[in-house]
Amino acid sequence: MAKVAIVYHSGFGHTKVLAEAVARGAASVDGTTVELVPVAEAEARTDVLNSADAIIFGSPTYMGSVSGQFKTWADTTAKIWFAQAWKDKIAAGFTNSSGPSGDKFSTIAYLWTLAMQHSMIWASQGVMVGTRQDDLTLNRLSSWGGVMATSENAAPGESNPSKDDQASAASLGARVAGLAKRLKG
Ligand SMILES: Cc1cc2nc3c(=O)[nH]c(=O)nc-3n(C[C@H](O)[C@H](O)[C@H](O)COP(=O)(O)O)c2cc1C
Repeated sequence: MAKVAIVYHSGFGHTKVLAEAVARGAASVDGTTVELVPVAEAEARTDVLNSADAIIFGSPTYMGSVSGQFKTWADTTAKIWFAQAWKDKIAAGFTNSSGPSGDKFSTIAYLWTLAMQHSMIWASQGVMVGTRQDDLTLNRLSSWGGVMATSENAAPGESNPSKDDQASAASLGARVAGLAKRLKG
């Protein structure tokens, strides 16, 4: 049984919609257990992260990087870093913002850097740009390092972020769960 944890922050709910899509995708892989961990609970639920085979990081893009809330939690993982306790877990990342670019790449790059500091194994998005699946378009924004999504300045919901971007998030969850399962043997 491979365990996938998704640790995320969402100030207004749009990144949470993506996190839930990632979770659905991961859960679609047989033999996977999935835990959604809002960043406010992440320090208290460190045991969930320590026992996971894969950790997927998600943050909105605020001022061209992860949110302050996400970074504050990331800094609390320094003790885990010191012990290199997450070494060789699979890692991946996703972000959402309102701008089509919005400097989302900086956020993905930060999430990757966090994973590298923890000696984790980074899973790329792994989907050809514009791949069609069930009338939806995966990797719409041509982001190879992780999933990028764009949300409207309106309430989060089943189409905000777009269904395309939610499908990309689900695809990332399934990819990471599949990799974790293979790594576990
Ligand atoms: C403090 C702050 C900074 C932001 N900075 C950016 C930014 O750099 N690029 C961008 O495209 N959108 C930016 N936005 C818009 C958010 O990315 C957008 O509201 C998104 O939906 C937030 O996700 P959330 O609902 O999960 O919090 C910013 C919003 C806030 C509140």
